This record gives sequence, structure tokens and C-alpha cells, in this order.
Amino acid sequence: MIPVAVNSTPSPAIHPAWLPPESFRALGSRRIRVDATGPLADTVRAEVSRACDLFGGTVQPTGAPADLILALDPGRSGDGFRLGRRGAVTVVVADGASGLLYGLFEVVRRGEAAFDQTLADERQEPAFGLRVLDHWDNVFVHRVMGQVERGYSGGSIFWQDGRLRDDLTRVGDYARLLAASGINAVTVNNVNVHAGETHLLTDRLGEVATIASTLRPYGIRLHLSINFAAPVILGDLPTADPLDPDVRRWWSDTTDRVFETIPDFGGYLVKADSEGQPGPFSYGRTHADGANMLADALAPHGAPVRWRAFVYNHRQDWRDRSTDRARAAHDHFAPLDGQFRDNVILQVKHGPMDFQTREPVSPVLLAMPNTRLAVELQVTQEYTGQQRHVCYLPPMWSGVLGFHPTGDDAPTLAERVSAGPAGSASRSGPGRSPAGVGTGGRASVRTAAGGVLSAVANVGDDPFWTGHPLAQANLYAVGRLAWTPDRAPAAILDEWITLTFPAAPAALRHVLHALMDDSWETYEQYTAPLGVGFMVRPGHHYGPDVDGYEYTPWGTYHFADRDGVGVDRTAATGTGFTTQYPVPWSERFEHPGTCPDELLLFFHHVPYAHVLHSGSTVIQHIYDTHFAGAQRVAEMQSRWAEADGLVAPALHARVTERLAEQRRSAEEWRDQLNTYFHRKSGIPDAKGRPIH
Ligand code: GCU
Repeated sequence: MIPVAVNSTPSPAIHPAWLPPESFRALGSRRIRVDATGPLADTVRAEVSRACDLFGGTVQPTGAPADLILALDPGRSGDGFRLGRRGAVTVVVADGASGLLYGLFEVVRRGEAAFDQTLADERQEPAFGLRVLDHWDNVFVHRVMGQVERGYSGGSIFWQDGRLRDDLTRVGDYARLLAASGINAVTVNNVNVHAGETHLLTDRLGEVATIASTLRPYGIRLHLSINFAAPVILGDLPTADPLDPDVRRWWSDTTDRVFETIPDFGGYLVKADSEGQPGPFSYGRTHADGANMLADALAPHGAPVRWRAFVYNHRQDWRDRSTDRARAAHDHFAPLDGQFRDNVILQVKHGPMDFQTREPVSPVLLAMPNTRLAVELQVTQEYTGQQRHVCYLPPMWSGVLGFHPTGDDAPTLAERVSAGPAGSASRSGPGRSPAGVGTGGRASVRTAAGGVLSAVANVGDDPFWTGHPLAQANLYAVGRLAWTPDRAPAAILDEWITLTFPAAPAALRHVLHALMDDSWETYEQYTAPLGVGFMVRPGHHYGPDVDGYEYTPWGTYHFADRDGVGVDRTAATGTGFTTQYPVPWSERFEHPGTCPDELLLFFHHVPYAHVLHSGSTVIQHIYDTHFAGAQRVAEMQSRWAEADGLVAPALHARVTERLAEQRRSAEEWRDQLNTYFHRKSGIPDAKGRPIH
């Protein structure tokens, strides 16, 4: 009989995620010195002493002998740190106070290896300066969207019954988990800012400040989503026109009060002129006008506004084949390149549509060399199984961050975004900020130095944090990729497994790795084929409905008919979306012969008999992948049965229940998709399998 892992607890108390007490054993059994003062150093000292209480180590006073010393490099600042050995001592030398915290958690991650004589010197610093999780949490339960929009993990950890939760213990625990994964900021409310939530900015700021102080000990800064119409809703002004002097004054005064209350406030996040949210278009102004107004209010405080590029016509006519939602963000924003203040960050969804299982990289991210950019990922699994399906997303994110915008040898997307606009520190010229506002100084220090990676959060008040316990790995991985975008997804997965299940026998590690490593590919196999996207049930977006969005105003079509399927986005005969890419991608995507198979139907409408690079036809590919995907889920189920007794019973039961649903759902997808395309095309499965 194999022993149960020591972090197991039979009841689903709050799960410790990747920081179970056991993961501190190597650290907590040693003599440790923290040679630094200040609030973050105090957090590090508290962590160390908690670990030592558990495992018998000691916190040593300055000057006393130690096995581990955490100290500050007086000449530097920032999140980075060096880790290495000085004689028989392991040393973390941090650039700034936050680096102490990150260095500490690196020691935790390495366990005994951090104290090995052979430990090599290493310097770590994050690729992205701002690493932020955006919660789509509402304070009030929304009629349609519930409390957490696209949330699959219970209620908000911040808000309950229309107000701040009385007990914020979980928020503190959350901050600790996030710091240990490398995240440094959190937005605490939904980008769709409804009337009630608009008040967080003013009369309910006290509640926001309380959250900020709960996050602060772990170096997590708080951001707020704001309502562009706030001056009208809160300020009794007749307009929210960004060029109106009264409106500008209102934002400036309001922002000053935010900083009086929360001196280290992180910044604003704005969804404007998008899916019904108010914005500058109502006043005949541009998105640069809107964003720059907020940037000017924030600039004296050295903080940024993140302005979302998710702007498209959600009331389009499906009969109109020339309108292409994929084009919209680039059409709106690329012409504005160079017109944004230095403390505006344009936050762009990683793909041109909407967080589908497979999309090309958004061309907006490739088209704005003079604009600070944030890449927005979606950790919450809106379109990827809603935390009922296992879907480990880092392989997709790695593809985005590692994309080579101008060809295979050129810098990656992550390198470009994290480098920021060329010459940003000293830029000036037409369309730039008025002298002294938003250029250089504090603004450039705290805003986007090092670029921005943001992700829509996936936690709630569920005992496992993420509904599906294995979805914790996605949350963990975002922070890790924000530090090191080229870290291999499989390595991050193994790291997460080791931390979360520290006493796991090899059999369990093997099961978890096998279950999760290629689960995104499995999910893709049984859902919408070859990059065409959607085919989900409208509204809630769970489960198959091939034509669910086909005749709606949302711009998400597949155009399947008896002859073929896919969206013609070519320059030659389609919407011309391919021209939004630089060479070589514009050319590669333009031609079916060079377009990658997995994106074929995103860019092309082809006959069912079209032969893929793989050698299969499109129709046979659809049949084969749908049978294979559902089969793989059945195998996942039996694999997980092998883990019975190796993890806490509550965790095992939760994953078992979700896998049963994943299997049911995968078979439903398989049967609906195969039947739909069989009926449309009339082409039988070459292997004669049952199609209904
Ligand atoms: C998707 C999602 C919405 C969300 C929107 C956004 O469309 O379904 O719930 O509000 O993205 O990113 O703003």
C-alpha cells in the first residue's frame, strides 16, 4: 500500500494549493537570517518563522551563523534577485524588497536542492514588470452573469451580499499564493462595471482600501476597473466627454482622492465602447482621447491606465459577409499608434476573436511599436471547459508568448512586449504627453517598464480555489510564464505537481502529468475544428451547438454548407484580415498551402475534401479528432482511477466527478460535431465508425 501524501486532508477545508506546509520543510529546518527591514521583509521573516516553527529551524539575528541569508543589494531596486552559495551558506540577494519575497519562494520551490553545495549562481528577474490578474467579480450578483462573470469556482473571494466580505483571510492567503507564483497585481472588479460597482471608485473606496491592505504584505498592488461614464453616474455631470474640462477635472480630483486613500494604488482598467459599455465614441472622440484623459489623471501618481482593445461591433448583421470581427481591434487601434501617453497600456486579448481554444496571435500586438502593450490571457476557462474539463493552458500561452512576429529568427512576442515601445523613456513629439505629464519620471518607473502580462482570474470561494482542483495549475503557470515566458509548459506542470503534492509517490506524479500535459490538445480535438472557433451554446458558452452563433449579431461564424467550412479572411477573396499581419505571416496565412493546419478554418473556407498538410482531408480530420479526443478523455478517467488513495479523498472525489462530466461532454461534442458535418457533407467516415 502506498502512503497517502502528507498534505492530504480528508475534508475540503481550504486547499493549500501550491503552498502546503510540507513544501517548506527544507527551508523550515534550517538557520535563517533576513538581513533587511521594512514591510515586505517583515512578511519574509513571518514566512520563515512559520516554517521554522513547523520544522524545527531557527530565525537568526543579524550577524549570527545561518544556512540561508536573505539580504538586499543596496544599489538596486525591483523584483529580481540572485541566488547562490557563499561557502556553506545559501544566499538570496534581492534587488528590492519584493525580490526578497520572490527569492524566498524560489528557495521553497527548490527545496533541498537550494541547500546543495553544487547550487549554481543564478540571477532571476521577471520578463514582465506588471503581472496582473483581472477578476471579473461583481459586488452585486448580476441578473445574467451571476457574481463572478465567467467564474466557475463559486462566489467572489472579495465581495458577498453586495459588500466587502467580513473575513478577508482568504484574500490574504490568495495574495500569498500569487506572490509565490510571481504575480504582483490584482484587479478586484469586473471590466463590465455595472451601476453599483461604479461606486467603488468614490463612496465605497474604503472597502477597496481594505482589500489593498490585505494584498499589500505580499507585494500585490490593487487595480480597479472603472466605468467610463462615472462622471455622469457619480459626479452629476451632464457628460463624460474626455475633452470636457469639467470631466477632466472630475477624473483628476477623483484620482487624487483614490491615492490619498490608497497611496500605492495600482491603476485603472477600462473596457470602453465594447459590448455595451460606455466610451469616448458616444462623444465623437477617439480611444486615444479617452485613454489619455485617464492617463493624465493618473500620471502625477505614477500609475497607468490599462485600456482594453476588445472593441468590435456586437450588433452586426450575419448576412453581411464583409464585416469581420477579427479585424475590428486592429482597425480601431492600429491607426492610433503613437498617440497614447506613456502611462497608457493598451491591453489586447491574445487572439483577434475571444479566447478561443485556438486562434492566431492578435495582429494588434504586432502593429503598435509606439504603444505600451499588455497581452491579455484568460485563465478562467470560459471557452475551454469551464473548469469542468481538464485543460492545462500553458502550451497555448507559450505559443502566444513565443510567437515570432516577423519570422522565425526574430524576437518573440514576449520579448517585444516586455521591451516596450522603442525609446519610450524619452519619447516626445506629436501626440505625446504635454510636457511633464506621463513622460519619464515616476510614471515610467511604475507603469510598464518590462511590459505587462494580464490574465482573467479563475478563482472563487470554492475550497479548491478553482472549482476543478487541477485548474490551479493554470493559475500557477501564469505567474511563472510572466517571469520566464520561455519556460517549458511541461516543466511548469512538474513544478506545480511537486509543490502541490510534495509527498507524492512517483505513480501519482506520473498520473497527474499524463492527465494534464496534453489536455489542451485533447480539448481541441473534440471541440471546434481547425481554428474555426465557437460552436458553443450561446450565452453561457458550455457544450456544443454548432450553429448556436451562426445567425446571431455576434460576428462568430463558421459558414459551413454542403461543400465546405471556414471563414475566408484572405486578401484575395475574403475579408482581408490576413493583411493585418506583417510579412511573413500575412503571406503564410493568405494561402491554404502555407497556412498551418490548426488555423486553416480560421483563415480559409475550404471544401471538405481539402487535403491538410497532415495528409488527411478536412472532413476525415474532423471525424478522426473527435473520435480520438473523446477516447482520450475516457483514458484520462481510467488513469485518474489509479490515483485513488494517493491524494486526499475530497480532492480525488472532486476530480472524479469532473472527469465524468468531461467524458459525457466530450462524447456529446463528438457526436454532435460528427453528425453535423456528416449530414452537411454527405461524406462517410473512411473508418466506418458510428455517426448518428
Ligand atoms: C467575452 C466574455 C464576456 C466578457 C468579454 C470581455 O466576450 O464572454 O463575459 O465581458 O469577453 O472580455 O470583456
